[in-house]
Amino acid sequence: MARAVQILPVSDEAIARAAELLRQGGLVAFPTETVYGLGAAARDPAAVRRIFAAKGRPADHPLIVHLAGADDLGGWAEPSPLARRLAETFWPGPLTLVLPRRPAVCDEVTGGQASVALRVPAHPAALRLIEAAGALAAPSANRFGGVSPTRAADVAEELGAAVDLILDGGPCGLGLESTILSLIDARPLLLRPGGLAVERLEEAIGAPIARQGEGPRAPGGLPAHYAPATPLEVLPAAALWQRAGRLSGQGLAVAVVVLGPAPEPLGQGIAAAVVELPREAVPCGRILYATLRDLDRGGFDRLLFQAPPDGPAWLAVRDRLRRAVCRHLGTPPSTLTGDST
Ligand code: TXA
Ligand code: MG
Repeated sequence: MARAVQILPVSDEAIARAAELLRQGGLVAFPTETVYGLGAAARDPAAVRRIFAAKGRPADHPLIVHLAGADDLGGWAEPSPLARRLAETFWPGPLTLVLPRRPAVCDEVTGGQASVALRVPAHPAALRLIEAAGALAAPSANRFGGVSPTRAADVAEELGAAVDLILDGGPCGLGLESTILSLIDARPLLLRPGGLAVERLEEAIGAPIARQGEGPRAPGGLPAHYAPATPLEVLPAAALWQRAGRLSGQGLAVAVVVLGPAPEPLGQGIAAAVVELPREAVPCGRILYATLRDLDRGGFDRLLFQAPPDGPAWLAVRDRLRRAVCRHLGTPPSTLTGDST
């Protein structure tokens, strides 16, 4: 059981305290519009190393540097005109750009790579903190491989006293991580679908964006990432209830997550807890991780999740669910096709 950690609601004093801790080499978890981040001063290699220890994350996995504004880009990367344009268009916001790094960026942040990932979060508390403390290297504030936290209490549960302070800004507005776009090669490459719709990027770029296959250097690119502990299956709506009946008939404790209202009654012989999530992609994404976390604590043997629709709006939700399934199956499930990141 993790020791208690200090959680302070966002206020001027709390931000000043957090900035002071960061300047001293401490770790502060802070809210962003996507998920909670685990921040350390990005120019302090010893502080950044503490992030890896707290998360149990392999040292060669690079971190996103969070900046206060697009004007700071040049201190970290060598931005092309396209990178500048995208930064000016979408920052602050849920877009991370991977760009050629400046030599001064420490290897702890980049995992020794020639690139650096940068973003400006669209959360007032995050921006105030970065303005007070300087740029922050911050992954999602969860243990390596787990579900990202979208509430301060989730961070406390995951990381406990490994973090010096948690700034509580309430639940995150988007609930899924940022979209990551690499501008390292001539063709922009989508490394992770996320809070910013790919079509909006494609509109701004004026061309389709290539998708990356899985790469070992980006944990978000590993098949087994973003997973709850309880085995999860994703099934078309038509197959969901039959499967629930079958598993509950075998004596398993089953929870079913549906998009929209569940049928009433559930059907003969089906004993399952039911969670109804919104039918729309954005509100569904907002509470996806919190729902998976809460279900993980519910003592279930199996989670059955209704497969989201195929449309582009659901890209990030489908991506996270596919990875969660992979953790337990070891292979991508056939019911989730379409995107490959
Ligand atoms: O929304 C978000 O992006 C959140 C909030 C806290 O900002 N952060 C986040 O960080 O999700 P993290 O570390 O959990 O995921 C960032 C992903 C990782 O898969 C990492 O490997 C990848 O970005 N990444 C970071 N730097 C990279 C680089 N230079 N090249 C390729 N991938 C990189
Ligand atoms: Mg993460």
